[in-house]
Amino acid sequence: MNILGIETSCDETSAALVERRDQHWAIRSNVVSSQIEIHREWGGVVPELASRQHIRDICTVVNRALETAGATLADVDAIAVTQGPGLVGSLLVGVSFAKSLALSLSRPLIPVHHLAGHIESLFLEQGGGEAIPLPLAVLVVSGGHTSLYIVRAPGSYQRVGRTRDDAAGEAYDKVAKLLGLGYPGGPVIDRLAKQGNDQAVDLPVTRMTHADRNAPYEKGDLDFSFSGLKTAVLRHVRGAGPVRDVRRAGPKDPPPQRALTNQEIADICASFQRVVVNTLLDRLFDAAERFGAQSVGIAGGVSANSRLRADLTARGLRTGVPTFIPRISLSTDNAAMIAAAGIRNFDAGLRAEWTLNADSSLEL
Ligand code: KG4
Ligand code: ZN
Repeated sequence: MNILGIETSCDETSAALVERRDQHWAIRSNVVSSQIEIHREWGGVVPELASRQHIRDICTVVNRALETAGATLADVDAIAVTQGPGLVGSLLVGVSFAKSLALSLSRPLIPVHHLAGHIESLFLEQGGGEAIPLPLAVLVVSGGHTSLYIVRAPGSYQRVGRTRDDAAGEAYDKVAKLLGLGYPGGPVIDRLAKQGNDQAVDLPVTRMTHADRNAPYEKGDLDFSFSGLKTAVLRHVRGAGPVRDVRRAGPKDPPPQRALTNQEIADICASFQRVVVNTLLDRLFDAAERFGAQSVGIAGGVSANSRLRADLTARGLRTGVPTFIPRISLSTDNAAMIAAAGIRNFDAGLRAEWTLNADSSLEL
């Protein structure tokens, strides 16, 4: 069975052909057209520009995915598309395209949750099947999301933690912006951090020790919060020094006294990254212990981070818990992971109606 995956939730137009033979999943193609160059000029993703570019690119990207796989539309047995969450105008391009294609080819259309796609990238990396011991504790960490899930059975996802404010990738992007490093922030901070001292700047670690009134869980202590860290970096950059009470930092704080040296910027990057990575991994391993996970994994754009990958592997070796990480091209947004999640939904009997609509805040 060949599943065509289509992903347009943010600023990547992607199409992929994934073949399922028995329990094995093989990526026959995974084409990604990134819009980074378009959005860089504006310091972040501009939704209207993103949806217009998806419209320009979608046909070429799908054709190229078929060509790369040596396939034609006649070889496509089902179409999986990201229904949400994401930017609604961007999602609509993929959903409308997938609906039209499925209708004209008389093939089933399968709706996919973007985060289910990120989680399934871990299984796709292993070639499908049962290579990952369950339950699996997964940290999904991207520009829009920072959530912890427990996978007890293939295709079943229980959310046990999430960020209460900024996503980790968003914190990377905002810190890079205030350091004048451009967009997207993750890769550049990752690179500069390698030349910095990660103990140079004392930054606060946010820890949820009790359930918040607003938290939808009985226990909210596996939740994350990154907005205070971002504000602490802002205060540090503006010459106020490390802050304890981050609520008092604001846009009216004084500007920096002088330009930072390259070494100071590298030190801030390294210190910021130390706090983010430790926070993410502490919570992931807490969740694994609490829910009796037999394995842990990371997925999503921030899982491309070199320190997160290295530290996860090291902690796994230290604690004896098997760890799983997708290759970089499956970490950042791509349609192969959407096809993989499509296989799970197909097996569960899920089919979209022709009335399927994009849902920018779809829950998983
Ligand atoms: O999953 P993704 O491609 O798109 C969303 O669904 O959001 O994630 C994009 C995010 C951006 O915030 C980007 O800065 C971050 O992933 N990112 C990284 C790295 N590469 C990408 N963050 C930290 N280190 C990296 N190497
Ligand atoms: Zn994503």
